[in-house]
Amino acid sequence: MTKPDILQMGPYPDWDHAPLEQSFHMHRYFEAADKAAFLTDVGPKIRGVATRGELGANASIIAACPNLEVISVYGVGFDAVDLAACRERGIRVTNTPDVLTNDVADLGVAMMLVQSRGMIGAETWVKDGSWAAKGLYPLKRRVWGRRAGVLGLGRIGFEVAKRLAGFDMEIAYSDVSAKNFAKDWEFIADPVALAQRSDFLFVTLAASAVTRHIVGAKVIEALGPEGMLINISRASNIDEEALLEALENGKLGSAALDVFEGEPNLNPRFLTLPNVLLQPHHASGTLETRQAMGKLVRDNLTAHFAGEALLTPVL
Ligand code: 8YV
Repeated sequence: MTKPDILQMGPYPDWDHAPLEQSFHMHRYFEAADKAAFLTDVGPKIRGVATRGELGANASIIAACPNLEVISVYGVGFDAVDLAACRERGIRVTNTPDVLTNDVADLGVAMMLVQSRGMIGAETWVKDGSWAAKGLYPLKRRVWGRRAGVLGLGRIGFEVAKRLAGFDMEIAYSDVSAKNFAKDWEFIADPVALAQRSDFLFVTLAASAVTRHIVGAKVIEALGPEGMLINISRASNIDEEALLEALENGKLGSAALDVFEGEPNLNPRFLTLPNVLLQPHHASGTLETRQAMGKLVRDNLTAHFAGEALLTPVL
């Protein structure tokens, strides 16, 4: 049997490449010097796309592959896939939910702790001799017992809130409706009202056109000069210009961010801010989770080409 031709949008860890090559004929779009010429050449034979959450597959990629049947996303977020184009053409889409939930929640909570306790600066204080030369490190804000807001109580938001409960925090959340599995936590529908009563606001929403800039100037200013914004979802959920402006002018206390517009080439204004913790979009980046994500990407492609039910379908 001939192996199905798959367009690979970005690199995966080394351990994924051999099993992918074994079952499929992989075409590495990300390595092509002339991407347009590459697509013209291989597009017509492509039956599957293997991509990553942040890379997705846009309308022009989909249009260049007239025989495309399935898009397998390495990531839970599928906002970078043109779903309308997929629906129109009957193209199936899969993602990798569940396997990454706990690691993403862990990183979000870790970012809150690191930033609130000033741990990055504290390490510099030790390493650059400030401890010996200047004495005690400046005092920071506590985390336990304070008020946390979770914007989006899906799988990841739920795991974040569960962890925060272990710090005896007062937890509230926003979502489209109150959740019957979250009876211990206060439901506040309006994101501005949620931010108003929160010291820490976690953004854990699945991104879409509807959630774009849901965290705008009003939410940011409601969180206020003592508040911290933590984003482990997608940059598009936040109005980045409003965020930068608020961070630069003390209208927002601080931010801990794993995702950025235009990443990895983030807005350079972030780099000089003293009140941010910046992470390279690695919330799902553990060996264990990335191995499970790679397997799920392959298993979905294999199921599709075997005519079996997809394991984790989006469409
Ligand atoms: C990335 C993610 O896919 O799950 C998501 O939606 O954005 C991440 O897990 C990961 O960084 C690999 O590119």
